[in-house]
Amino acid sequence: MTSPTFPATAIFDWYDRHGRSLPWRHRWPDLAPAYHVWLSEIMLQQTVVATVIPYFLDFTRRWPEICDLAAAGQDDVMAAWAGLGYYARARNLHRAAGIVCAEHQGSFPDDVAGLRRLPGIGPYTAGAIAAIAFGRRSTVVDGNIERVLARYFVITTPLPAAKAEIGGRYDEILPPERPSDFPQALMDFANAVCTPRNPGCEACPLAGGCAARRAGTPEAWPVKAPKKTRPERRGIAFVATDSQGRAFMVSRPERGMLGGMLAFPSAGWTPDDGAYDPENPFANAPFEADWRMAGDSVSHIFTHFSLSMDVAVARYDGAGPPETWQKVRPASLPTLMRKVWMVARRQS
Ligand code: ADE
Repeated sequence: MTSPTFPATAIFDWYDRHGRSLPWRHRWPDLAPAYHVWLSEIMLQQTVVATVIPYFLDFTRRWPEICDLAAAGQDDVMAAWAGLGYYARARNLHRAAGIVCAEHQGSFPDDVAGLRRLPGIGPYTAGAIAAIAFGRRSTVVDGNIERVLARYFVITTPLPAAKAEIGGRYDEILPPERPSDFPQALMDFANAVCTPRNPGCEACPLAGGCAARRAGTPEAWPVKAPKKTRPERRGIAFVATDSQGRAFMVSRPERGMLGGMLAFPSAGWTPDDGAYDPENPFANAPFEADWRMAGDSVSHIFTHFSLSMDVAVARYDGAGPPETWQKVRPASLPTLMRKVWMVARRQS
């Protein structure tokens, strides 16, 4: 049932005037290709639109169709993803492309249940693809839409417990028209007007009915469970270079932090990397060499911890598995390892 109190038309009017043009976006009644919607939605998980745009354009230029992506080598996909973070997304993306190409003749399932069976697609992403690529009236609630609805309806339950309630509200207000535009309009609106801090209530088309606005403190919603403080970790990365300027690199294990990515050997910062004792810093070096500490360390924030990574450097021309000595291409490295390389390079 459509809620009589939520003015969907006002959101559509706002979207028609202020909605963003994005490379994966089409306007109702035109529906964007499912491949583009899926790719953009996976990239947009945990990542902002401005960061995603160049990656989306690069992927669709290299791999114009889903079966092109399925046929690509995993290493090429991981290297193209480098810098976007949350690397499990890229492995699942490649696996899902393989399944869609091999088992669905290159066409995505067109409903939530079918989409959910693909790796990397959870309830939000399945709902978003079903609505945006297939025009279904599915539930699409991301953090932006959560904020708008938690304010409009002053939902007092803290997140994440409030998710089910907010999903129910979304289903109530979902209008019958323009199913692909509605969630995208709400997301753009949340991003431009109903922002986390200093929401623009003066120019807001929903202000008349918004209970949080009436309460006078819209930024107090959504209510959130208290954040745990981010623990700090310390680790060390080992950058050995040879006389040809190549560096010793490894592929990280598929499971775990930076899974499947090219990286410098390291210790201390994940349970699987071996210990790091700053008093005895080279104990877990990959091999014996004239290791010395670089002057600077690297700081990097992950979702669940912040990391201070010391950097050890060495010149090494001993034999080793030849495939591990490579020219460093920073664009193919995860951001943490790019930072490590920048510190190491200043030493040599
Ligand atoms: N965030 C996630 N998906 C989006 C979309 N389709 N439009 C705008 N922002 C988004």
